[in-house]
Amino acid sequence: MPAHSMEELVSLCKRRGFIFQGSEIYGGLQGFYDYGPLGVELKNNIKAAWWRSNVYERDDMEGLDASIIMHRLVLKHSGHEATFSDPMVDNRKTKKRYRLDHLVKEQKPAIQAAVAAAMGESLENFPALVQALVKRPAQASAALISAGVRDAFSGEVGDWTDPRPFNMMFKTTIGPTQGEDSYGYLRPETAQGIFTNFKNVVDSTSRRLPFGIAQIGKAFRNEITPRNFIFRVRELEQMEIEFFCMPGTDEDWHAHWLEKRLSWWEAQGVPRSKIEILDVPPEDLAHYSKRTYDLMYDYPSLGFEEIEGVANRSDYDLGSHTKSQGELGLVASVEENTDSVAKLSIPHPDTNKPVVPFVIEPSAGVDRALLAVMSEAFTRETLANGSERIVLRLRPHLAPIKVAVIPLARNRDEITTVAKSIKADLQSLGLGRILYEDSGNIGKAYRRHDEVGTPFCVTVDFDTVGLGGEDKQSDPALLNTVTVRDRDTLGQERIQIADLNAWIRSRLV
Ligand code: GAP
Repeated sequence: MPAHSMEELVSLCKRRGFIFQGSEIYGGLQGFYDYGPLGVELKNNIKAAWWRSNVYERDDMEGLDASIIMHRLVLKHSGHEATFSDPMVDNRKTKKRYRLDHLVKEQKPAIQAAVAAAMGESLENFPALVQALVKRPAQASAALISAGVRDAFSGEVGDWTDPRPFNMMFKTTIGPTQGEDSYGYLRPETAQGIFTNFKNVVDSTSRRLPFGIAQIGKAFRNEITPRNFIFRVRELEQMEIEFFCMPGTDEDWHAHWLEKRLSWWEAQGVPRSKIEILDVPPEDLAHYSKRTYDLMYDYPSLGFEEIEGVANRSDYDLGSHTKSQGELGLVASVEENTDSVAKLSIPHPDTNKPVVPFVIEPSAGVDRALLAVMSEAFTRETLANGSERIVLRLRPHLAPIKVAVIPLARNRDEITTVAKSIKADLQSLGLGRILYEDSGNIGKAYRRHDEVGTPFCVTVDFDTVGLGGEDKQSDPALLNTVTVRDRDTLGQERIQIADLNAWIRSRLV
């Protein structure tokens, strides 16, 4: 478990402008968060790092940006209408509603054990216990009551209803008419936009197997109990790859992607030693999955929770959409139709016969990635002089601000002109945000930039421009030089302005 708590991270996020509660001025909306000036930079940098590694640095990947609202039939035939639900129970006394597995998991061990015993199940296999509670709802409510399951709201034993499924998709009306069919869904995963565009991408790029399609975008889940800051939200962002391969090669590709993803996390400062790989038990697999590895990161105050899933979705989605298109008379079935015009198949690399590929899907949450990256970077340390500082030791490519350029005197044109010109020069390198920082006290500026992870602060002072101070002559050796302060070492180096671009670039790229 990290040395800091979730509360410390939440406090830093709000204080320094990374993340705010959504709709805060009206009391907030549970499960929705807004990314502030630094949050949006960090988030964009994480997404850019993912895109670079998974699209630009590979030769077998295409990108996509599909629409968020989808035809109801897509989510019907993907299986989400029928199965994308979490089990929910109500307490008749408090009228509070809970996600069943969360409710049980948050009870004291003795109560959890009593629930398991009442259901004739073992607590060791928690997913199987939840399945039993869902499959035998009447027995489940009796078990929850007799075991003394408490409501966190009242602290008392609840009068629990039978568990029932709650579909997590957000439904929305489309267009001005309110007919039976005039609705769609906000996508619960970005993946379906990839499957429905599979044929478009194949036809427009002439791709052959194996290859993948990558997408970053919003997804929406009406979580019963959103919680733990941005860990479980109702509006989330995903970075997903659907990697299409020949059936039979899927298990090798699954291993390939597991390894690739672990090394990507490592490059973002989230080490393998902090990620446990969960081979998801069959009874806990999503409806489309043949096998899934969940990457479980050790979140502060939460412990090991899923940061990414790497699933083998087999031919479930492309097969299901092809079948339903056939049933609806939109295309012929895979077997009948060999021209492979509209159906979701691709020519076999050797025989040219249409084949529905298998799919490996690495799917990571951007919000959970940001939380993990910040958690790894967050450090509280005592300096040699006994003072304490918080420093966000972000990898430079993720830092929201790459360099802060600080003029030592705000009211001296000689100094501010040079500082502004340095800022413009550094900005032109295209490394990310360079901040002209003239908000006052230099000590405070250093502290603020430590807390938000700025790798370097460049200070333009009197010596830089050949101005003497009140009680001191300027040092001619320091003319046209600036002080560069290193966030991690706290070392300060005097650099020639003429060398600064190259100096910074070599440390940030
Ligand atoms: N297309 C597969 C899929 O959506 P998932 O395991 O349901 O699989 C993938 O979600 C990732 O999306 C998770 O590993 C997690 O990082 C993120 N995620 C899922 N639900 C989330 C939520 N309510 N809030 C924040 N992130 C979430």
